[in-house]
Amino acid sequence: MTRTHTCGALNKKNLGQKVVLTGWVNKWRDLGGLIFIDLRDRYGKVQTVFNPEENAEVYEQAKALRSEDVVEIKGTVSARPDTMINQEMKTGEIEIAASSFRILNKAKTTPFEILDDIEINEELRLKYRYLDLRRSSLQRNLLVRSNVYHIIRDYFYKNEFLEIETPILMKSTPEGARDFLVPSRNYPGRFYALPQSPQTYKQLLMVAGFDRYFQVVKCFRDEDLRRDRQPEFTQRDVEMSFVDENDIIRIGSELVQKVFKEVLDISMEMPIKRLTFKEAFERFGSDKPDLRFGMEIHRLNEVFTNSDFNVFSSVLASDGEIAALVVKNGADFSRKKIDKLIDRAKELGAKGLAYWKYQQGEFSAGISKFISNIETEQLIALLGLHDNDLILSAADTYETTFSVLGQLRLEIAEETGLIPQDAFAFLWVTDFPLLEYSEEEGRYMARHHPFTSPQEQDLELLDAHPEKVKARAYDLVLNGSEIAGGSIRIHTKEMQEKMFAALKIDKEEAKQKFGFLMEALEYGAPPHGGIAFGLDRLVMLLVNADSIRDVIAFPKTSSALSLMDEAPSAVSQAQLDELKIKLS
Ligand code: AMO
Ligand code: AMP
Repeated sequence: MTRTHTCGALNKKNLGQKVVLTGWVNKWRDLGGLIFIDLRDRYGKVQTVFNPEENAEVYEQAKALRSEDVVEIKGTVSARPDTMINQEMKTGEIEIAASSFRILNKAKTTPFEILDDIEINEELRLKYRYLDLRRSSLQRNLLVRSNVYHIIRDYFYKNEFLEIETPILMKSTPEGARDFLVPSRNYPGRFYALPQSPQTYKQLLMVAGFDRYFQVVKCFRDEDLRRDRQPEFTQRDVEMSFVDENDIIRIGSELVQKVFKEVLDISMEMPIKRLTFKEAFERFGSDKPDLRFGMEIHRLNEVFTNSDFNVFSSVLASDGEIAALVVKNGADFSRKKIDKLIDRAKELGAKGLAYWKYQQGEFSAGISKFISNIETEQLIALLGLHDNDLILSAADTYETTFSVLGQLRLEIAEETGLIPQDAFAFLWVTDFPLLEYSEEEGRYMARHHPFTSPQEQDLELLDAHPEKVKARAYDLVLNGSEIAGGSIRIHTKEMQEKMFAALKIDKEEAKQKFGFLMEALEYGAPPHGGIAFGLDRLVMLLVNADSIRDVIAFPKTSSALSLMDEAPSAVSQAQLDELKIKLS
């Protein structure tokens, strides 16, 4: 290496030193006979100065430099004049008086400037990702990501976990998302699948006796993408033998505690709060509640048992639910704004949204005329009302009532600026339902995955009331985002067969898809369980990025394209012939 220092390393302690620096020309300006060039590398930026009085020839040559040229600059560290000191910059007290330079590679004019605070069209950013990655915000994101890998590995190695790699080419066993398939050349007509997660392998590692496993691993899911989803993403995957829910929750909690301490110097409150799925749903209308703010949902069935309001009484008669949200100072909302909320509730599947206001000790507007004095008293106490509150109430099926209010809760909080942007609210959600009915498939599906153990006391419900069976599953939620999920697994063949039966996977299909796992369970499988963290999501929240793409070096677009190399792309006829594939 020719460089003596990196661009972020120099300060007043280096005054007078002769240095050699390498990097990219970040900014070039000619100011009253002096040329200033900010030189940039991944460690920082430093100002260099070319002075014609020191060296006229070098000064003339420096006029040819342009942004993003790669250069080597030699010079002497000198103090900046007092008026030129830049406190924002790590190297802001010094500059390099340049004595000579070498262009290592000239750059074309880049399609966008390498600056942080400019709006750049995302398509352009993704097409020229290597230029986008030069910007310091993305550099920081990837630095944090790398730190997180380091912290995770450190934690697991210290706790006697083994890091074991599992195959990327595996058997297709779709159950959940769609698989990405890879055609086999040796066996035309047969396919490998890319793992949606290493779930079966890590369970087999437990059967093999490895006891404590972890892996930082790529997972592939061909599903519809969202802001926090990518078709390939990274999990920090864990499995342990001879454990229960509390052991995994403890390990998962310690790990995030360590990551937040080391990356952001935030000391998390321990233990992390826990809610059952039922509590989370009835208080926040979600299985991943954002606890950075309150605005909880309240059940109102008891208050309205004798309601004069038709909608409420008929919903109660049909075993539905009445619940409400209180919007602080929402009594100021205009009629138009309230109508928009009502429309939104309908869009989300509710039949309507009732509202009324609480002002100067009484209810007014909306459906207030249907509310009796006794109900008023009960509501004021139950909802903890304050002057100028707006009450929004849904009456519908259990599912609809809570999920619609949960979504409105989020949207109203977002809109009214109720969510503190620098807060981190962690939550374990436990006791999930084991199964959920899929209209599309016409059968029950595993809510987590088919290897998750039912809770012992619910086993007898599996045949008659599968929807009532709770799972030994848990998710870690951060600011309304699911950052990890896991479960205690089924470890006997008999139980696994029962589970497949509940999922209407018949014996033949189960054997064909999961025969290897079923067989392994018969050869002394220890009780085991585990968890997987969505590493991209975790880093996204750590750096407060808007999109999961901002923490992945080379992400796909929301339509699963790689704009830089244009994957997926057509392949040659020869490749297809070799695979015996005909396109239809
Ligand atoms: P699960 O499917 O819940 O569990 O995935 C674990 C975590 O991975 C993250 N995640 C994603 N991140 C980005 N893009 C995606 N498309 C995506 N899908 C999931 C989420 C999620 O919490 N094998 C089980 C884990 C176990 O039971 O141990 C599994 O994969 O943050
Ligand atoms: P209506 O009697 O249909 O005019 O409804 C009176 C009010 O009740 C309107 O504000 C509706 O939006 C609201 N409403 C209707 N159905 C429901 C429901 N299922 N839950 C809550 N409010 C409703």
